[in-house]
Amino acid sequence: MIVLGIESSCDETAAAVVEDGRLARSDVVATQVELHRKWGGVVPELASRNHVMQVLPVVDEALARAGVAPAELDGIAVTSGPGLVGALLVGVQVAKALAAAWEKPLVGVNHLEGHLVAAFLGEKPPAFPFLGLVVSGGHTSLYAAEDFGRYRLLGSTRDDAAGEAFDKGAKLLGLPYPGGVAIDRLAKEGNPAAIRFPRAIVRGAELDFSFSGLKTALLHHVRAHGVPAGPALADVCASYQEAIVRALVQKLFRAARRLQFERVVLAGGVAANSRLRAAVAAEAAGYEGMEVTLPAPRLCTDNAAMIAVAGTHALLRGERAGAGLAADAGWRL
Ligand code: KG4
Ligand code: ZN
Repeated sequence: MIVLGIESSCDETAAAVVEDGRLARSDVVATQVELHRKWGGVVPELASRNHVMQVLPVVDEALARAGVAPAELDGIAVTSGPGLVGALLVGVQVAKALAAAWEKPLVGVNHLEGHLVAAFLGEKPPAFPFLGLVVSGGHTSLYAAEDFGRYRLLGSTRDDAAGEAFDKGAKLLGLPYPGGVAIDRLAKEGNPAAIRFPRAIVRGAELDFSFSGLKTALLHHVRAHGVPAGPALADVCASYQEAIVRALVQKLFRAARRLQFERVVLAGGVAANSRLRAAVAAEAAGYEGMEVTLPAPRLCTDNAAMIAVAGTHALLRGERAGAGLAADAGWRL
């Protein structure tokens, strides 16, 4: 079964061809990072306009690299939410037009489900059920994944997403967007115990996250000591990153213990963070029989192959979207 995936929910225009929900025959991502960098974050209007320019060339390239003709496709899957509405609309309209022109079945895919199933493109895919942590620029959510298309939300962030905490923290430190990558790199030279930032704990809601207090603590630190440079900058990055990672690891394994999961899967752009990956692997080593799936960093950040994987299983379940498929910016999984 060969499915074309299309993704345009944020600042990457992506298309991919996936075989049997497992093998990415092609995986093309046209990133807009450079375009948004000078604004310090994603500008929705710029994102939409750029998707319009990129989407057809990106789809053409995905088909060409896969060596697949439109006639050979078994279906088209497109991210229809959540995300920036103008950005989502570009992918959805193009997918509808192509599905009509090529007479192919179409499904709308939830971007978060895409992240959760990205691990199936790796060499050792997880088995269901698993505990999935989606940590990206827009989301920080913990899911019980029971099967393709069946997810239960266990907890999420009350305020900023983990990626947002990285990006806003980086901005305060004068680092370039996207901040997670910059902090990850600088933190390698720093001491994670140099500064005691507050733990991101939410009272009462045991599996929820909160990162806004941490961001405020960093702001106070910068106000009190100035924007650090050199080794002091590395120490601040390492300590700030450590506070985010500790909160994520604590909640992830609290859920695993409580709900008796034996498999955890990381997903989303922040899952590319080297410290988070190491900390999750180290924590899991203390649990007998605990399996951890850390998809390759390229599969963690936004891509269309993960959308094609989720779409393949939706098509197999018989789901079909019609010409009425709409972008749903606030679609909750
Ligand atoms: O999943 P993604 O590509 O897009 C969304 O759906 O949001 O995630 C982007 C987020 C950004 O906040 C970026 O700073 C963060 O992922 N990120 C990282 C790393 N690579 C990307 N955060 C920490 N460490 C990284 N290595
Ligand atoms: Zn994403």
